[in-house]
Amino acid sequence: MRTISSVLAMQRLALKWRRLGPRVGFVPTMGYLHEGHLSLVHRARRLVGPRGKVVVSLYVNPTQFGPREDFSRYPRDFARDAALCRDAGVDVLFAPTDAAMYPGRDQGRYSTYVVEKTLSQSMEGASRPAHFRGVTTIVAKLFNIVLPDVAVFGAKDWQQAAIIQRMAMDLNFPLKVVVAPTKREPDGLAMSSRNKYLVGPLRPQARALWQAIQTAQAAVRSAPTPVSAARLKRRLCRQIEDQPDARVDYIEFFEPETLASAAKVRRGTHLALAVFIGTTRLIDNARL
Ligand code: PAF
Repeated sequence: MRTISSVLAMQRLALKWRRLGPRVGFVPTMGYLHEGHLSLVHRARRLVGPRGKVVVSLYVNPTQFGPREDFSRYPRDFARDAALCRDAGVDVLFAPTDAAMYPGRDQGRYSTYVVEKTLSQSMEGASRPAHFRGVTTIVAKLFNIVLPDVAVFGAKDWQQAAIIQRMAMDLNFPLKVVVAPTKREPDGLAMSSRNKYLVGPLRPQARALWQAIQTAQAAVRSAPTPVSAARLKRRLCRQIEDQPDARVDYIEFFEPETLASAAKVRRGTHLALAVFIGTTRLIDNARL
């Protein structure tokens, strides 16, 4: 496995691959890798085949964090991430610096961003202004540097994946965006680098997200007619906030492709939720 930190070196290699022909699979990450990330790497490998190239990027992107969010304390462990990537058969680990990705940003000389204007307004976009502008900007930049044929994203960030698919289509990126299923801990908690923050009594309380999803699934499956979204939201909110350190940020029912809010919940409606467990904000989602 090669580790590359220079944008130019990565782009040159990507251009060489494009000339020589191997298919390139790409998994963008912010590091502190877990089984969920590795499942995306294995999916990328299956998609490009044994002769293809798999690139993982490892970059904690400052522009997708709000001023009071966890950018500076976001977990980082480069040596461990590099070992996991090597063992997973990654060909290139691309780990650029802030100066390489946003030249002149500290001096106010970086001024180009990519903005998706529709799908990014609700849920994470409403709770975290400028988050998706940071995501679409960094992902567009990474696509231009790595030049992948296929990029794999996790379904845990359902809205993010929908926005990136839309961006790739709207801006004519010549690649396929694949969304791979969420990996869960044995008790149902969706795997996330931020789970590291859940210490002591907070960890068992984090099960509340998966339990809420299961309650919603059971409610929809047992109801003979579509269920009121407002009523189900209130029920899930009460159930989650029964945990002493849990506070709901949002619970949303929506159509999975358009992300349009649903007033009635039926089989196939999607549920997404964001919940603070202590000061840690967790997200999850599922098709009902
Ligand atoms: O999902 C993530 O880890 C990040 O949002 C991404 C796609 C790597 C962009 O920084």
